[in-house]
Amino acid sequence: NEGALWGARFASGPSPELAALSRSTHFDWQLAPYDIAGSHAHATALAAAGYLDEDEARRMHAGLDALGTAVADGSLQPAPTDEDVHGALEAALIREIGPDLGGKLRAGRSRNDQIATLVRLYLLDHSRTIAREILRVIDALVSQAESHPDAIMPGRTHLQHAQPILLAHHLQAHAWPLVRELERLRDWSARASVSPYGGGALAGATLGLDPQLVANELGLSRPAENSLDGTSSRDVVAEFAFIAAMIGVDLSRLAEDVILWNTREFGFVTLDDGYSTGSSIMPQKKNPDIAELARGKSGRLIGNLAGLLATLKGLPIAYNRDLQEDKEPVFDSIVTLEVTLPAVAGMMATLHFHTDRMAELAPQGFSLATDVAEWLVKRGVPFRDAHEISGALVKVCEQNGIELDAVTDSMLAAVSPLLSPEVREVLTIEGSVASRTGVGGTAPVRVAEQRVELVARATEA
Ligand code: ARG
Repeated sequence: NEGALWGARFASGPSPELAALSRSTHFDWQLAPYDIAGSHAHATALAAAGYLDEDEARRMHAGLDALGTAVADGSLQPAPTDEDVHGALEAALIREIGPDLGGKLRAGRSRNDQIATLVRLYLLDHSRTIAREILRVIDALVSQAESHPDAIMPGRTHLQHAQPILLAHHLQAHAWPLVRELERLRDWSARASVSPYGGGALAGATLGLDPQLVANELGLSRPAENSLDGTSSRDVVAEFAFIAAMIGVDLSRLAEDVILWNTREFGFVTLDDGYSTGSSIMPQKKNPDIAELARGKSGRLIGNLAGLLATLKGLPIAYNRDLQEDKEPVFDSIVTLEVTLPAVAGMMATLHFHTDRMAELAPQGFSLATDVAEWLVKRGVPFRDAHEISGALVKVCEQNGIELDAVTDSMLAAVSPLLSPEVREVLTIEGSVASRTGVGGTAPVRVAEQRVELVARATEA
């Protein structure tokens, strides 16, 4: 096979079973543009070290450019006999510029240092797309918060009514984890921006090629410090898979809220028609499929991370062929996020909120009881006693079938002489929310400040 990268020491070619198992072109062909970029950089290093003269270097780069064009327009495809992207491209280069010159490119590099570099280039590229799409989800959450600056909803712990909060506060609580994902991607990219090229198969180079030159050509910051580590570690890939899984979990939690809010029982939101689906049998149905798919796909993203970690566990240093299994899971995570994030952004941007319904439910379930207790504390009552008094007031309300905002003066007085009618200033959801002015609290003034900080952090990342 003219494209094979090895064979001289073998009496026979690969068996069909081996070839079928070994072949990776059906997924690593996506790396072809990066492989070609790596070859350009490597050719530059070969020329700088005197292994290619000026004319050879020019023809080599021209040949690689021709390959780049053919890959981009689809006219170059891997042959069924090609083992991987590296072999397919070397065979194509040899067809393009002949075996004498084409055969020189492989000097001083191995598929092991190549693949370790290419996967980083691929992930760095896609991390930028994913960051852009995360920003769109953050934008959607922030604009909804901005459009509903005063809307109050029931805040829940254990899914039970707890304390009234601003809808904007809740929406921004979903935006902060995404801001941290942007920061994680930025921090990760500093670690990913290292070039294993020049490490060879495992032991490093003899030919005096400049690995910093290669790193510079590829837009990476520096060569790997250890050729064994550079060619055989995949923690950078696993870390990316973790960030992808974490983004999936963030989206899943947001999706779960949307699904609940969209039930008839909650009635907090209506989904835009363009971002919801129908049923093949029930004509009336309008389903939150985007949210459900986002929630479902988080399982897949977690699985990709778990599978990759299991592959890496127990691998001896240095390169082992198991490492070929790093690509499909992380490629899948990328495809999954690149299709999920835009749909979630659109769903959130077009969501219609029923703020009257939220406000109606916000004081229910005695959600102002903490406000009563803290009102007493401000008047010198020990919190332990205040908690008891407020609890007793809740019991009276329950017995009378009313909420805290409907208590009469005589009920207040009967529970405790400390409960003067002025306590009513905190017995409204507006009063309750406005009083939570502590750092990070739900008071409208704090939530507006928080939004400015959130947008600044998202823009910085
Ligand atoms: N296709 C391999 C991978 O994705 C790279 C080739 C290394 N092959 C080898 N026999 N050393 O990791």
